[in-house]
Amino acid sequence: MSDDTTPFSGEVDWGALRTEAEEAMRRAYVPYSKYPVGAAALATDGRIIAGCNVENASYGLTLCAECSLVSMLHMTGGGQLVAFTCVNGESDVIMPCGRCRQLLYEHSVPGMMLETVSGIRTIDEVLPDAFGPRDLQQYSA
Ligand code: THU
Repeated sequence: MSDDTTPFSGEVDWGALRTEAEEAMRRAYVPYSKYPVGAAALATDGRIIAGCNVENASYGLTLCAECSLVSMLHMTGGGQLVAFTCVNGESDVIMPCGRCRQLLYEHSVPGMMLETVSGIRTIDEVLPDAFGPRDLQQYSA
């Protein structure tokens, strides 16, 4: 078992992650878009966390599946994200929206992997030259 500072070094079971994402997707609250999304990720300590989208009558307040996933990360012990996938209601892998790429970046290990529509990619490939926590740390140092 690794801790926050020891990135997970085993094989990623993408099938298991996708199954968790599909289960989460079935819990989505999507009365407006009718587009359920489920996300799942492997954390540094090996646990799998998940999330679903939760919409709101004030559409702009909608919480993407990644929002509840990141909340679950912290509510269940913290750590960082090693591998991530998300699916829609047809179990197709979808890309995290732009805002959620930034959200994931904040909580990712360097080189975090994502299952994408074009195969396995790193967080740096889907969010190049990202602004993140290290920029703020360097500025205040
Ligand atoms: N959605 C997510 O949950 N995550 C994404 O990365 C893409 C979009 C949700 C938001 C909204 O409830 C629905 O998909 C349609 O945009």
